[in-house]
Amino acid sequence: YVVGFQSRDGFSGEYDDDQEKMRDQIVIKVSHVVSENTPKGKAVRRFQALVEESTKGKVKVEIYPNGSLYSDISEWEALKNNNVQMIIPATSKVSQYVPEFGLFDLPFAFDSYSQVQQAFEGRIGEILLEKAEKREHVKGVTFWYNGFKQITNNQRPLLTPADFNRLHFRTMPSEVIKKQYQMMGAAVSDLPFNKTYENLEVGFIDGQENTISNIYSKKLYDHQSYLTVSNHSYLGYVVLVNEEFWNELPEEYQVEINEAMIQTTDWIRRHSIEMNDEQMRELKRDTDMDIHILLNSEKEEWREKLAPLYDEYEDVFGKELMGEIGEING
Ligand code: LMR
Repeated sequence: YVVGFQSRDGFSGEYDDDQEKMRDQIVIKVSHVVSENTPKGKAVRRFQALVEESTKGKVKVEIYPNGSLYSDISEWEALKNNNVQMIIPATSKVSQYVPEFGLFDLPFAFDSYSQVQQAFEGRIGEILLEKAEKREHVKGVTFWYNGFKQITNNQRPLLTPADFNRLHFRTMPSEVIKKQYQMMGAAVSDLPFNKTYENLEVGFIDGQENTISNIYSKKLYDHQSYLTVSNHSYLGYVVLVNEEFWNELPEEYQVEINEAMIQTTDWIRRHSIEMNDEQMRELKRDTDMDIHILLNSEKEEWREKLAPLYDEYEDVFGKELMGEIGEING
């Protein structure tokens, strides 16, 4: 017996197997903008391992972190054109296309992780995913967790709304976020996430808001004197998949991908809290920013100053969603 026979066209049988595997393999390209050492960066790696294992490599997940393939400005278009099959943008960014996603940006809408979880897993999450599918024809799969946002800046510590006066902040492209800063007398520019560091470095902006994890992993503290722990709103993500790609997937793979997604979502919900806490300890130890945890009395002042946004956006988000926020955080 001859082992390792030559096939008719001169290639070995083994090579034919590889060719066949490549032909049958389904590739999910995932683009995201943050570092690997973040809740989202790690979660997407977990998802990759779970999917590749359960499908025995028939579905391959290719990950492009740090905006290396598409930036936060171009990834939406890339998803719709099926140049990537999955993106995981902050809900704030999706508000550009489906305004209701901006509800997470309302100041102090949710006060705890469990309230955020109720929003993501309950009626709010359901309504938002439906709207994304109906209006934009993207498949909204689930919500992923990062953390509450804090603010870094130069010039002066931010204790009262008046302290924002004439400072210039980088924000994500969300109307609700921009209005908050403007109401407190600040100027805003919505710059891509991966342009934030260099704009802080050259002093084009005085500050920015983000989760501790993003501040830590992108070294956004390097050129900043103050960190205000304000927890003024939550930065979470929505996992979006190209609709046609999803619908054409064999059902067995849909099942495996859904299962991997459930496990990964559970993982990121728990580990995002730990990672942000751990990286906060590192920031305290390794940076010389002055850290101020907003007092309840100070928070109350911010809340009052920004309260008109709730009336202003009632029409945009609709009574049902506003009512749900009230139910959760009554
Ligand atoms: C940002 O742009 O600040 C964040 O959305 C980055 C991210 O994806 O966490």
